[in-house]
Amino acid sequence: MKLQFLTWPEVEAYLTHSRAIIIPIGSTEQHGPIGMIGTDALCPEIVAAGMAERRKILIGPTLSIGMAQHHLAFPGSVSLRPSTLIQVVSDVVESLAGQGFSHFFFLNGHGGNIATVQAAFSEIWARASFARSQSALRLRLHNWFQGERVGQLSRQLFGDGEGSHATPSEISLVLSAYPEASREIALDPEQAPSGPIFDAADFRRRHPDGRMGARSALASAEHGRRLRAAAVDDALEALGQFVSL
Ligand code: NI
Repeated sequence: MKLQFLTWPEVEAYLTHSRAIIIPIGSTEQHGPIGMIGTDALCPEIVAAGMAERRKILIGPTLSIGMAQHHLAFPGSVSLRPSTLIQVVSDVVESLAGQGFSHFFFLNGHGGNIATVQAAFSEIWARASFARSQSALRLRLHNWFQGERVGQLSRQLFGDGEGSHATPSEISLVLSAYPEASREIALDPEQAPSGPIFDAADFRRRHPDGRMGARSALASAEHGRRLRAAAVDDALEALGQFVSL
């Protein structure tokens, strides 16, 4: 169930039997020559849709702009500063918490969001802790690409070609839902260089076509269908444990 398609009385009714919501969070950033700029936001949406097929769960609006400062030297990339993203996450949580939601399961598609979203969670809890009050809020970040089943399958499918950005796993997952998005472009080198992340200009020097360590061309819609099933299983398992907390 997508929040966007409900009315407020329907949300009120949902709150009588569940206080949990999934918030897909991603990024709008370059993903190399064959990966779409929306990859990191599309992936958690695709996984969330698969979860909703199996379980009655509410899916909130996708936070599609994340912390992607290191991609800003590539056209089309959009970033929030870490401090801005902390505010965005806090405001989203506190908007819905005031209405009765208590369990927020952030389904994340972008590694660059991890540190900042965790910092946002700490800010939210710190407000209760410093006020010596109790918070019923339960916040969880689940990175679909780090699930156990996804990890096993991506190692089996792609080995060390997975890399860390514009990965064949994430591009495959997008292709499973949007097969028409496939690009036939030769990549040189086949496997992109790896390296540290500093600022945007440095990132583009080290990673001229935008990929990090990935053999992106190994991606396919068929691999994506298997990864989607694995990601849905990982996320439902994590959600099941989380809602009992
Ligand atoms: Ni990505």
